[in-house]
Amino acid sequence: MCGIIGYTGSGEAAEVLLRGLRRLEYRGYDSAGAAIVNDGAMKVVKRAGRVDSIAPLLDGVEGSTGIAHTRWATHGKVTDGNAHPHTSCGNDLAIVHNGIVENHAELRAELEARGHVFRSETDSEVIAHLLEEALRGSKDPLRAALEVCGRLRGSYAFLAAGPALGKAILAARKDSPLVLGFADGAAYAASDVYGFVEWADDAYFMENGSVALITPEGVRAALLDGTPLEVRPVKVAFEMATSDASVYAHHTLREIMEQPEVVARALAPRPEIELAAGALRTAGRVFAVGAGTSYHAAMVARYAFAEVAGVDLQPVLASEHDLFLRWMDAGSVVLAISQSGETADVLEAVRAARAKGARIVSIVNVPHSTLERESDLSVNVRAGPEVGVAATKSFTAQLSTLFSMALEAAGRPPLDAERLRQLVTSALSSEGSARAAGERLRDATDVYIVGRGVHYPVALEGALKVKELAYVHAEGLAAGELKHGTLAMVEEGTPVVLVNPGDGTYVDTISNGEEMKARGAFVIGISERPNDLYDLHIPIPEARGLELPIVEVVPLQLLAYYVALARGAEIDRPRNLAKSVTVK
Ligand code: F6R
Repeated sequence: MCGIIGYTGSGEAAEVLLRGLRRLEYRGYDSAGAAIVNDGAMKVVKRAGRVDSIAPLLDGVEGSTGIAHTRWATHGKVTDGNAHPHTSCGNDLAIVHNGIVENHAELRAELEARGHVFRSETDSEVIAHLLEEALRGSKDPLRAALEVCGRLRGSYAFLAAGPALGKAILAARKDSPLVLGFADGAAYAASDVYGFVEWADDAYFMENGSVALITPEGVRAALLDGTPLEVRPVKVAFEMATSDASVYAHHTLREIMEQPEVVARALAPRPEIELAAGALRTAGRVFAVGAGTSYHAAMVARYAFAEVAGVDLQPVLASEHDLFLRWMDAGSVVLAISQSGETADVLEAVRAARAKGARIVSIVNVPHSTLERESDLSVNVRAGPEVGVAATKSFTAQLSTLFSMALEAAGRPPLDAERLRQLVTSALSSEGSARAAGERLRDATDVYIVGRGVHYPVALEGALKVKELAYVHAEGLAAGELKHGTLAMVEEGTPVVLVNPGDGTYVDTISNGEEMKARGAFVIGISERPNDLYDLHIPIPEARGLELPIVEVVPLQLLAYYVALARGAEIDRPRNLAKSVTVK
């Protein structure tokens, strides 16, 4: 889940790497570091902390080749020593790595027996030592990289640079993403195109299981069995503008506020939606795979597909996909939902489903992501870059896209994009009430968010937002489940949020609210209708059917944002999390 970037050219590597790292920081932000190579010398700086913490250390460091890393710790604590890059004993080689070397303990023991001295607790450091040995025995760096990869078990994307390689950078990838970029007289390598798209729009997505040697003049690449690869870059064009929080205090708030446009854009008809609907019409079984928020989108889709298209869509938690494989075959369609398109559990589920013959239709936000490239058909949700680690606008864009598919599959007209734009704008105008509710929950230790029917997965999504943004324990519940246990938790002042629009679920949800209120709960109601039951009412506009989940999640996002703000939490980058979860 870390972010890696490399640069070789004629400019100052430190500047390029620092800018690139800031763009990749969403992938992990426990520690950061860089190695800059300058005429046979190498300077390595690294530190536990954000990317900004290494900026002063890079001040004045000269050199036009380098690699850098932003870390999300897996093996080894968050310390300066465990930050990447890791260097070889001779200090003439540095590596940065994203992934997990599963056999690191045995490799380390073997290398230590041969006299290598380790300076960190990470699994990654073995790569530096193995490469040091391989380069000694081989004149060709590409061969040396192949030799190292032959020893590694697990997943990796790594870059190596240093005086031992001159102006070249070695790159290798297996089951972790790595993309190369080319511009006049310069070459880049990064975990994703965001890392370098500002400077280079010719990109080459490295084959899974391959190595490459890049120099400012060009690239040589080979599969792990040594077969040479022809490198054919593709043009990538990215919307860069939206990664600026400018008028908003946080990217997360900006992204919540962007939703009227995002939803309208996601609802626009496009050929891929027609194709996906065609596949769904003839499918035997339909599955929707996702993790976290994307899984909640799959759960909402279950209700939508059943209601509008009579399709029995089975939501599948990506990390629990094994159970469902027995029902997947050539007649199955798997909707793979992922904002990043890089989530390891989702990719694994998709690969397993494909091996059973299933057709993969992905619903992604990041263009050119691994998932997009590994799908039979991919539909982009068009939310634009999502910088805040908590998924907000990508969720409503996923819902809009999934609803369009369900309606198209049923031969029904799409949702009215302009109407949805206005409804979401109106939901955002409840910011004041959401803020008041958020401030009320500042000292809460537990929050219960409940809803019935399609509002139940929306409640789950609201609870996830409260947990990750505000670090307050929150539980999403099907309202009917309360009396089956959780009601025992409710006492004087326990905060409860009812997702309670005026549809067929309204009356029953009110009754469940009464049951909690009778036990002392402080009830916050999200509804277009006021009700005496509510201690605090967050109004939403009059909406119907499939419009409701899109509209009602907006005040939940705002509520979570304002609880977090009141508690002084790090909103855009919650602790312990990363935006792209590229490890299992
Ligand atoms: C929650 C959140 C995570 C992601 C999950 C899947 O706000 O961001 O739960 O939804 O890690 O990520 P993607 O959608 O990129 O596969």
